Amino acid sequence: MTSIRAKMMFEHKLAIWPKHKPRNLELGSGSSVAVIGGGPAGSFFSFFLLELAERVGVEVQVDIYDDKDFSRCGPKGCNHCGGIVSESLVQILAAEGINITTEVAQKGIDSYVLHTDVGSVRIETHLQENRIAAMYRGAGPLGTKGAKWGSFDRFLQVLAVKKGAHLVNDRVKNICFDASLPLVKTRGGLSKTYNLLVGAVGVNTSALKLFKGLEFGYQPPQTTKTFICEFLLGPEMIQKYFGNSMHVFLLNIPRLEFAALIPKGDNVTLVLLGKEIDKTLVQSFLNTPEVKRCFPPDWELTKSYPCQCFPKINIKSALKPFADRVVLVGDCATTKLYKNGIGAAYYTAKAAATTAIFEGISNENFRQHYWPACQAIINDNKVGGVVFAVTRLIQKIRFVRRGVLRMTSGEQQKKGAHQRMSMVLWDTFTGSATYRDIFLRTLHPFFLTRLLWETTIGFLPFKIAGKKEEKDLKTNALGRLYKDGETIINQGETGDCMYVIQSGKVMVAQSKNGKDIKVAELGEGDFFGEMALFEHKVRMATVRSIGDTRVLTVDKKTLLQRVQEDPSMAFNIMQTTIGRVRKLDEQVSYMMATDRRNWTNRPVNK
Ligand code: CMP
Repeated sequence: MTSIRAKMMFEHKLAIWPKHKPRNLELGSGSSVAVIGGGPAGSFFSFFLLELAERVGVEVQVDIYDDKDFSRCGPKGCNHCGGIVSESLVQILAAEGINITTEVAQKGIDSYVLHTDVGSVRIETHLQENRIAAMYRGAGPLGTKGAKWGSFDRFLQVLAVKKGAHLVNDRVKNICFDASLPLVKTRGGLSKTYNLLVGAVGVNTSALKLFKGLEFGYQPPQTTKTFICEFLLGPEMIQKYFGNSMHVFLLNIPRLEFAALIPKGDNVTLVLLGKEIDKTLVQSFLNTPEVKRCFPPDWELTKSYPCQCFPKINIKSALKPFADRVVLVGDCATTKLYKNGIGAAYYTAKAAATTAIFEGISNENFRQHYWPACQAIINDNKVGGVVFAVTRLIQKIRFVRRGVLRMTSGEQQKKGAHQRMSMVLWDTFTGSATYRDIFLRTLHPFFLTRLLWETTIGFLPFKIAGKKEEKDLKTNALGRLYKDGETIINQGETGDCMYVIQSGKVMVAQSKNGKDIKVAELGEGDFFGEMALFEHKVRMATVRSIGDTRVLTVDKKTLLQRVQEDPSMAFNIMQTTIGRVRKLDEQVSYMMATDRRNWTNRPVNK
């Protein structure tokens, strides 16, 4: 009797085991992956999949399919986007070892200017540092002569190729399953089966239908039309009229949710987001005095602009962007409402790559380990809807607009004052913080009391803060410039950030008995200052610039929050730190071997 029961139990276990974790739905050595779409989501996915595969010792082949050539200017090389890499993403990518080069970043943005009908105010970063990158997805607007700009999408593709991805410059015309394996067919006649199929096709493409046609329950996201165009002003005019600031507008124009002018190299990009943006809305925006004031006085704004488009953006996420052996990442799965599309491409692509390597490639694996990353963005977008509803209300009520402006202006004028409104606006415009985080800050009693007070006395005259300062920030490079010998970190001080060297060199020195002892020299791409972040201790060395050095600051909160969400993010830092310990060990054993004193009998630190 007992043996019959045991047999039944064993058979039951066998029956449920394959459902729980099918052994063949994993990526092993020799597996192949097709990534359809070579924009940021596709390149991020390929880059991280290959990096993680290498770390766990699995050899995977990745083919990226895209018929676009991102080294071309105009629509042929462009992926239709405002072209902003948010403040938090610039830092996270730097900590991942991806530093946006000066050829790609056409402007480092250090401030925002908020324009309303009751005045304008400049909001500066507290660090006085370029931490937002304005760039082109392709090689610049239509008519750009020569290879003037570095394309952001191309830059990411090159990173993926360096990791081992293979680019297939062809259009995918059909996808289907062949004996449960995804089969990809191209216009050029290629036909190949893969272990995993990844959709990174964005929302401006007919390729979405191919994934819908696989009938695993995928429904593409709901979209709306936006507007993007370029004004060719030349670098001097751009510097004079726009500087290193992004200009955003709070104007009472129906259907308009967000408007920004973004300076880049020779051009200024105009981005209008809202509901079904059309030519009439564009004209009424360009005719407002607030917009005209930003441009040179004789500038003909409403004449035709050679490079313009009405691309679609998501307003509601896709349904079920995964199945056995299939996953969709980036915009065609989900994205942050109106903001940080490249950030969402990074988050979703990395979550999908981590799932594929560490968990598996079944429907269940993606549901359990990939979908929560999408769900976090979807839930935050619900709060984003409320944030934009409040913004719309502010756009409609003039005295509240005055209150917001008064409060921001007051904060910007007082050094060391709490930047409550400034940071709420900064994070809303930059897309750096989650909508939930922004919303919770607006519920703080001090925030509400101050806003109520400033709104009540809103009729009184007030001074608009924020004069454009001439500083080292004319450049397109990210980070902050330190002169030769300038101290970046002081030994013994507490620290709440880490640094990544963008260009130049630094010297790390420890002070012992009043003497500076050189510990290391670090160069481009290296980071420092991580010890105080992870240890809750003071800085253990002083770091000084050797010659001119450009350094990007990575905030403790941004970094640790990301490590919490994605522990694999800490690999990069761990790897470097272990390398440093290894080097120190070698130095110590060399000293022990060459020193005449009897080191072998010395007490060992426990
Ligand atoms: P932290 O202690 O926060 O600040 C000083 C930094 O110097 C430290 O973090 C490390 O990033 C860096 N540092 C200390 N020792 C070394 C070393 N041996 N090699 C390279 N960098 C170091």
